[in-house]
Amino acid sequence: MATTSRRRARTTARSEAGTTAANALWGGRYAAGPSAVMTAINASIDVDRRFWRQDIDGSLAHVAMLARQGIVRRADAAKITRGLKRIAAEIEAGRFEFKAALEDIHMNIEARLAELIGKPAGRLHTARSRNDQVALDMTMWLRAACARCDGQIRAVQQVLIAQAERNADAVMPGYTHLQPAQPVTFGHHLLAYVEMLGRDRGRFADAAKRGNRSPLGAAALAGTSFPIDRHATARALGFDGPMANSLDAVASRDFALEFLAACTTTSVHLSRLAEELVIWTNPLFGFVTLSDAFTTGSSIMPQKRNPDAAELVRAKVGAALGAFIRLATILKGLPLTYGKDMQDDKPAVFEAADALELSLAAMGGMIADLKANPARMRAAAGGGFSTATDLADWLVREAGLPFREAHHVTGRLVRLAEERSCDLPDLSLADMQRVDKRITRAVFRVLGVDNSIRSRTSFGGTAPANVRKAAKAARKLYLRGPR
Ligand code: ARG
Repeated sequence: MATTSRRRARTTARSEAGTTAANALWGGRYAAGPSAVMTAINASIDVDRRFWRQDIDGSLAHVAMLARQGIVRRADAAKITRGLKRIAAEIEAGRFEFKAALEDIHMNIEARLAELIGKPAGRLHTARSRNDQVALDMTMWLRAACARCDGQIRAVQQVLIAQAERNADAVMPGYTHLQPAQPVTFGHHLLAYVEMLGRDRGRFADAAKRGNRSPLGAAALAGTSFPIDRHATARALGFDGPMANSLDAVASRDFALEFLAACTTTSVHLSRLAEELVIWTNPLFGFVTLSDAFTTGSSIMPQKRNPDAAELVRAKVGAALGAFIRLATILKGLPLTYGKDMQDDKPAVFEAADALELSLAAMGGMIADLKANPARMRAAAGGGFSTATDLADWLVREAGLPFREAHHVTGRLVRLAEERSCDLPDLSLADMQRVDKRITRAVFRVLGVDNSIRSRTSFGGTAPANVRKAAKAARKLYLRGPR
């Protein structure tokens, strides 16, 4: 996207032959217009046209306030309002011509307003600057983006919970170090992600709450001598109030940084799940099958079924973290207040948001469609002496051994089973008693994988009954309420 927009800007600049006429909006003291290169580096319209609606909404609230405060005549305000609404309709219908020569979305809209209504258009910018205007647009855009991300993460939670309910007692190997550790259920595993995503939603909500203050009315940086009502515009635009300091209002972009941090954390979680899908769909595991809709074939190897969507979700962390680093780098060491550097916040924010929204959609689709293969999971869960901990726990509980000693005894039994190329439940009682006399037949009750998972009833544990309860609680906590 960045490359195409740069290319587009370059072509526009070149076709505008060398220098142009002085800018109509700020060109009072300019004899000549900018060079083509200046236009190319300065213009942001290809990027910031994306928040045209926020820009128009902000202007509508601003002009209504100007009229109420007697700063602009009601008749002029009415003309401006009508003009802005018409521009919104033009943009919506794809009939608006965005011009690089007019730099950015703010000036494109204002120039069109002048074409439509003439002189009164010039009154809209009273007691306002592009500095508070762009901060306002960004803030409103971020607020909406936080709400969209919340809805999309919720949708992923929803399909995860549904699969968890379906697979509440599907036994699979639980791993540490990607080595078989203890049996768990597939449902339990999926609910782990529901929790991570729940905290991610909390991060977006926190960012949106903290960022919900209006910069409008800070003007260029110092406030204004006009009797504006910042509280009224803040209220009209759905903010909790105006930002308290005008310098902070035009200089800060920490809402965007926080948004990108939340995007990054969410992307990290999605990438871990994506990587597990890649592992689980490998025929050596064969735990799940992804649908045709979310896999691709190979042009040369007919047997292939590649988890491309999962791999791309795994890759998208780069977009979010890259954007965070980009913006943090832009802001670092910037003296107060506004600097044109800050114009470059937008590509970072938009690219990260797009990448995350696409990842969430892809992940939601993959999870909704996936088919678990409980037989393969169960076969793998039984291997690797995965109930060794159950055996050690039994020695502690039933035979009274200290855990360290039980660990040692179990280790010897594992070695014995290894020598015989069998699993723990396949050892005879006599074999076991040769290792430790205190073992009785009752030990076999804890050795199977089903026995193992059923016994994990501690809060947050993997017992199928727990998983069903946890899924129900998750539904209540995360999915209740209108959507
Ligand atoms: N296009 C600019 C941006 O995105 C708008 C603000 C420009 N302000 C200025 N004083 N040049 O940051």
